[in-house]
Formats: sequence, structure tokens, C-alpha cells
Amino acid sequence: MAMDDLNPIQRAAQQQFDRQSERYGKGHILSDISDVIDALGRFDRLKPARALDVAAGGGHTGLYLASVGWQVVLADISAAMLERAAAAARERGLRVETRQHAAETFPYADASFDLVTCRVAAHHFSDPPAFVRETARVLKPGGAFLLIDGSIEDGQPVAEEWAHNVEKLRDPSHHRLLSQGTWTKLCQDAGLRVVFSELQPFKQPDLNWYFETANTSPENRAKVLDLVRLAPPEASKLFRLAEEDSKIVWWWQRLVLGAQRIVI
Ligand SMILES: C[S@@+](CC[C@H](N)C(=O)[O-])C[C@H]1O[C@@H](n2cnc3c(N)ncnc32)[C@H](O)[C@@H]1O
Repeated sequence: MAMDDLNPIQRAAQQQFDRQSERYGKGHILSDISDVIDALGRFDRLKPARALDVAAGGGHTGLYLASVGWQVVLADISAAMLERAAAAARERGLRVETRQHAAETFPYADASFDLVTCRVAAHHFSDPPAFVRETARVLKPGGAFLLIDGSIEDGQPVAEEWAHNVEKLRDPSHHRLLSQGTWTKLCQDAGLRVVFSELQPFKQPDLNWYFETANTSPENRAKVLDLVRLAPPEASKLFRLAEEDSKIVWWWQRLVLGAQRIVI
């Protein structure tokens, strides 16, 4: 898919991250990659080989992989993000390849990667089933897929709707949070076997910081604050909404899912 052939959801994400790329470097909450390290340790016999990091953003995941010996392709829809990730790689003396493309169509041959990672990005994707199918296609048999993203437990429609409205107002390029069960089904349908899947609550330490990261408009900040004030009990409870030191905090439902391409 050419970069001038993006759908409106992809275009919105590209524009948002081209504008906001400088916010995703060092010091960003995503620079703590302990979630990635823990999750990779849960795969059996995963040895550094060829990896694709989809929607690589500032490169925190992909550069970690490169630092421990993987040969990494960083892919993203935003050119500015890729430039930032490439600069971070140079600074750290790491070699990576960067490729600009959408997560819904990959420009790679079948069975060309040993690992595909995608962290805190899939909630922007216009077509998650296509993304998972492409992931399965480019993985070698037995190859590993690590997905980390904001998610929600199954059977929580009220809390899901609330979180969707908050995220969409904060960053209009947000598309949808998918539940844990939905991701499992997408993997199974694409020929991937889920080897672990866990919702790990993860603290969002300051709503204002979160607004700054996305450059949320003043009107939308006011609307989110109303949603927080009027949050339904299902959402308050699930996300542990609270005020601490005059900051609004909550706990994201972070999904950590590992799958492997089935060997036929
Ligand atoms: C929060 S950042 C990702 C963080 C990164 N994975 C990490 O571990 O630090 C989200 C990224 O998703 C990218 N993105 C959003 N929609 C996309 C799509 N449809 N295809 C490819 N990249 C996309 C954005 O450009 C942005 O760089």
C-alpha cells in the first residue's frame, strides 16, 4: 500500500504522530521496556534472529531487541517517528533498518521473520484482523508474535465504551481498544497459537501528562474531565480511577499476549 493511499484512520494516526514525535523519546513512559523483557522471557527457546517491530514509534521496543542481538526492522506509518527512532539508534550505536508502511499491509515475503512485536499501538489500527493475518504470514513456522496494548477484559461493555470515549477525545487518532478474547480469536483465526495472554494493570500516573503527550485540545480536555467526574461505577472500579497529589490517575488494562505461528 502506497503512503498516499491511506484510509482516514491511518491518515489520522500518521498526522498525529508526525506532529507529536518529539514526545516519544527518552523519558517517555514507554522507555521502560520491562514489560517487553518479561514477556519475551515467557517464550520457549527464543534466540535473537530477524525481528519486525510494527508501529515502532520512538523505537523503545525495537532498539531493545537490537541491543540484545536481534536484526531488527522498525516499521511505522509516520516518517517523523522513524527518523526519531533512527536517530536514537545512532546515538546508542545500534544498527536497525527502518521501513515506512502501515500495519495493515506488510511489504515483506512470507515466512521472513522469527519475531514480530507490536507495543502500545494496535488501538490505532484501522483493521486489526488484517494486521494479525499479515503478522502470521511473515512469521516463520514457530515464529513468535508479541502484542502489548491497551485492552479490556471481556464482558465489560460499559467500561469499554467509557475508555473508548476518553481515548478518542484525548487523541482523535485512537481507533478502538479490543478485548483480550477478541485478540485471542484474531490470532487463532490467523493460524497463531496463543501461548500466554494476561491483562496487567499499568498505572497512568497523571492525566495532564497524558493530555500533553497527545496535544489534546482545551475543549476535549474539559470533556474528558467531565467523563472522569461522571464515570460509571463499572469504569471507576475497573480502571481504579483516583486522585493522588492533585493528579488524576488510573490503571490501564494492558494486554500482554504471546503467540506462535503454528507449525504444520
Ligand atoms: C505509542 S507509539 C508506539 C510505541 C512503540 N511501539 C514503543 O514500544 O515505544 C504508536 C505508534 O503507532 C504508529 N501507528 C499508528 N497507526 C499505525 C498504522 N496503522 N500502521 C503503522 N503504524 C501506526 C504511530 O505512528 C506511532 O508511532
